[in-house]
Amino acid sequence: MTTTAPPRMLTGDRPTGRLHLGHYVGSIANRRALQHSYQSYFIIADLHMLTTKNTREDIARSAGNARDMVLDSLAAGLEPDLAVFYLQSAIPEVMELNTLFQNLVTVPRLERVPSLKEMARDAGKEEMPYGLLGYPVLQAADILCVKAHAVPVGKDNAAHVEIAREIARRFNHLYGETFPVPELISAEVPSLVGTDGQAKMSKSIGNAIYLSDSPDEVRRKVRGMYTDPKRVRADVPGTVAGNPVFVYHDAFNPDTAEVDDLKERYRTGRVGDVEVKTKLADAINAFLDPMRERRARFEGEPGLVERLVVEGTERTREVVRQTVGEVRAAMGLDAVYAAFTAESRRPVSA
Ligand code: TRP
Repeated sequence: MTTTAPPRMLTGDRPTGRLHLGHYVGSIANRRALQHSYQSYFIIADLHMLTTKNTREDIARSAGNARDMVLDSLAAGLEPDLAVFYLQSAIPEVMELNTLFQNLVTVPRLERVPSLKEMARDAGKEEMPYGLLGYPVLQAADILCVKAHAVPVGKDNAAHVEIAREIARRFNHLYGETFPVPELISAEVPSLVGTDGQAKMSKSIGNAIYLSDSPDEVRRKVRGMYTDPKRVRADVPGTVAGNPVFVYHDAFNPDTAEVDDLKERYRTGRVGDVEVKTKLADAINAFLDPMRERRARFEGEPGLVERLVVEGTERTREVVRQTVGEVRAAMGLDAVYAAFTAESRRPVSA
């Protein structure tokens, strides 16, 4: 089937909490930039959430989390007229695609995906749940169900996109050209350290600055940030490389002259942490201010988020149904039942 439609991108998050600065640099900055040149789909991946969080309480919280995430995304610059937000679990055809794709990848291949072991460990699982091992396959179903060309995601998800590419190629090879092979679009800043200096900003670790944090919360979190532990006084020379406060200055402070000056004085023991942190909190707040304004504007439109999710889900479901129809036809699956239905309609001869 040929199409003149614009290329499509698909990305999204599990509805487990609010979006933070790590999400912004890892993926949202790209989403923002790409939304003008791609038809953009944003998945609220609640089925993926179930691979590590599947209690009734987790599920009950997901609607509110999803709402917050959509609002955060709009605040961060996604445009309600361009973005298609949808709820994964409301499109059961995705699970059908997942089942079919499960035969296009091997267990050892999935066992080599590093992020899955990390997720299992972080969720306190001693053994790998079957669904979690299949996480990238379900993600491939998400990506391919809208025939996405581009997938802007953070570092953790790069290996999953690679699996989606392999599944697309394998499907095309076995059953005929059906899917574009999706491109990974990776972030400029691969991942952001946490405020505590741990490798990754993460809501589960509690070391995140949220896009929705108030100016006071930002100041409080920045004041408590981990810095060079060897620097016990302002006149002790400190290390800049890898120091979270300077990583954040580089990411969020556009005043490079100020940042260079702070770094120079830090290295030579001529600046206190208070000054470095006060300037950082100011920079982060200046970065978040436009988002705060947008959030207030969208919050002032009651029902906006709900309407976007419902319209987006209906729209996406239409696209997915079409894709699943093509998939079943390409595989020859439709013909199997059709052999029975055709026979069953034949008049019974005496
Ligand atoms: N795996 C993503 C996460 O880390 C969520 C997700 C599910 C996703 N399906 C996707 C991202 C498809 C990009 C494309 O939360």
